Amino acid sequence: MKKIKIQAPATVANLVCGFDILGMAINNPYDDMEIQLLETPEIIIKHTDGFGLPEKALENVAGIVLLKIQEDLNLKNGFEVIIHKNIKPGSGLGSSAASAAGAAFGANALLGNILSKEELVHFAMYGEELASGVRHADNIAPCLFGGITLVKSSNPVDIIPLNPLDLFVTAVHPQVEVKTSDARQILKKNIQMKDAVTQWGNIAGLVAGIMKNDHALIGRTLHDVIVEPVRSILIPKFDEIKSKSMEAGALGGGISGSGPSIFMLSETQEISEKIAALMKSTYQEISVENLVYISKINNTGIKIV
Ligand code: HSE
Repeated sequence: MKKIKIQAPATVANLVCGFDILGMAINNPYDDMEIQLLETPEIIIKHTDGFGLPEKALENVAGIVLLKIQEDLNLKNGFEVIIHKNIKPGSGLGSSAASAAGAAFGANALLGNILSKEELVHFAMYGEELASGVRHADNIAPCLFGGITLVKSSNPVDIIPLNPLDLFVTAVHPQVEVKTSDARQILKKNIQMKDAVTQWGNIAGLVAGIMKNDHALIGRTLHDVIVEPVRSILIPKFDEIKSKSMEAGALGGGISGSGPSIFMLSETQEISEKIAALMKSTYQEISVENLVYISKINNTGIKIV
């Protein structure tokens, strides 16, 4: 039966001030997935990556998405999915979203593209719910649409793709564990009006900056007075990496998703490489293993290869 191979990119959720509403796809890393339509109704998941993720369909983020699609569309077919993950689980780079969105995208392609992108976001969020307990779409939307997306609402799904930008992204993943569920639990339940006003000024300014391709405005608005002050405590050397990156010429940056990865945006390859080097050396000083990625913003999203 029909089989396709796809690549699902990593994503940077929140984009500093846009908690749960903004996200951006990047070129590196990405997951490879192979999806086959079966004549029988089983959902078979296999991982070839050695991360020890569950392979039972109900316990796997790709599996749960396919089960929901099968149920809601009344399908007699099943799917076999072979996942080779390069986006480390728990990195804050949208690992679960890549699997969930990849499963929805792949199933849809094999079924003749009967679902809209918004419907794919709806199904893929079941994977996020399994992974973190919350149906958030800020990784899934950019993974499916590419570029930078605004989640105007996740129920009903209303996604606004923003202007594609030609910028470099440097991301470092220090090998410390930060679970999304824990990183959400520590957030304050109430926020002060003055902080809310600052935050929505930044979010609106950031969206305006993206739409006008105004890099200086993007840099001025990449500030978060609500989430970053709480979560950054979980990430070793966060403040140091941020300030050194700004000195090296970054436009701005912060925690990628719920962390522990940190990302920085810059205008040139030269600056992105300087940032990569300082991220590496800063973690080497305290013997924290890390992975560093330099990439452009991925304006395509998941693709068939
Ligand atoms: N918006 C989510 C959070 C992203 O920050 O918790 C999780 O990857």
